Amino acid sequence: MDTHDNSATDLRAYPFEEFTGVLSDELAKVVENEPVSRVRLPSGAPAWLVTGYDEVCQVLTDPRITRMVGRDGPRIGVSSMAPDAPRRSINMDGAPHAALRRLASRPFSARRMEALRPRVQEIADELIDALLAEGGPADLVSGFAQPLPMRVICELLGVPPEDRSRFSAWSDAILSVTAHSPEQVRDAMIALAGYLNAAVAAKRVAPADDLLSQWIAAQAEDEELTDEELVDLAVSVLIAGHETTVNAIGTGMVVLLRNPGQLDALRAEPARTERVVEELLRVAMPSDLFRIMVALEDVEVGGTTVAAGDAVMPLPFAANFDPKKFGCPHDFAPDRAETSHLTFGYGAHFCLGAALARLELDIAFTTLLARLPELRAGGDLDALKWRAGLAVSGPEKVEITWS
Ligand code: HEM
Repeated sequence: MDTHDNSATDLRAYPFEEFTGVLSDELAKVVENEPVSRVRLPSGAPAWLVTGYDEVCQVLTDPRITRMVGRDGPRIGVSSMAPDAPRRSINMDGAPHAALRRLASRPFSARRMEALRPRVQEIADELIDALLAEGGPADLVSGFAQPLPMRVICELLGVPPEDRSRFSAWSDAILSVTAHSPEQVRDAMIALAGYLNAAVAAKRVAPADDLLSQWIAAQAEDEELTDEELVDLAVSVLIAGHETTVNAIGTGMVVLLRNPGQLDALRAEPARTERVVEELLRVAMPSDLFRIMVALEDVEVGGTTVAAGDAVMPLPFAANFDPKKFGCPHDFAPDRAETSHLTFGYGAHFCLGAALARLELDIAFTTLLARLPELRAGGDLDALKWRAGLAVSGPEKVEITWS
């Protein structure tokens, strides 16, 4: 059993490289050889990096490891608990999380999400109409991958789509690791919360068929649910449900363009979309960071003792390449038997919007290939620029052409 000392200076720096949407070679070596390893975070603080599949699942479900890390905790920039977080937040552990999650998840059932299909399809078709009217080559990110999830999430929440450029700017700042200063992040949080506060007040007067109105109605059942908690939930959904899906479409398309055989197979057989989407989710890294957690007592993880007070960073997106779980993990193989990737997390915090994300990705890829049958890369895929300094990242631009 390994033990450790707490001096960070001798530790290997966390293999945080310039993000390129794929698992870096250095991280690939770590996943293969060291499911639990000791690293120095960019902030200089020591932490346990957990990349083994079983080990990540353990960390995300072990009640002895908390995600409620205060502002004085081992920061790497990924926002943890804000000092002024409400009493209950979806980012907490245990009972406060469970209570809010119960409320929040009602409108997210797979049946309700499936009912959104015709509207999501309509939005996807409108976006493709605009691309066709403009003519290629075009940027897939600004022309399709960005606006599709943003329009869907605005309609779902019940906020006007005209406000989406403000949302994009706020959510960029909030997801910043190094791209924005702490003051800019804080200002964006305050602006977004203020905006949603006003939206909640307006819905209280004139309810509609949307998430904000449904959550307001739930306040009648849970007398403890405060407006502050409700706004915090809306912020989480807006942030969690937007950039992640934008990047899954953008990075996913890059993976497909780099695997032209798989792209042709999908074009020839659209029924493969579900399997292809799952494999894209497994291999298209949304980030090489995840949230920092802290051990509340000594815990054994994968034969290593994580001492009470130690910081732990589970990395589900790297665990998707654990060779003990996935055979030939670096191959893009939609027909693989094992498909249980960890891209939507694991345990109590498993992504609330997974059904919606899968629906959007299904419609996105099916529609792109059906309406642009000659779709191919319009530029050099090796020269792509990736968005830097964010906790959830993807390509800045993906040029495509179709004639
Ligand atoms: C491809 C797209 C998406 C990816 C990769 C993704 C990934 C994740 C992951 C990894 C978690 C767990 C985080 C943790 O353990 O701390 C999570 C949680 C969450 N996601 Fe997603 N997500 C996506 C789309 C969405 C969408 C479309 C929505 C909503 C409309 C959404 C809403 C949420 C919420 C509210 C949580 C917090 C759940 C909780 O803490 O109980 N996500 N997501």
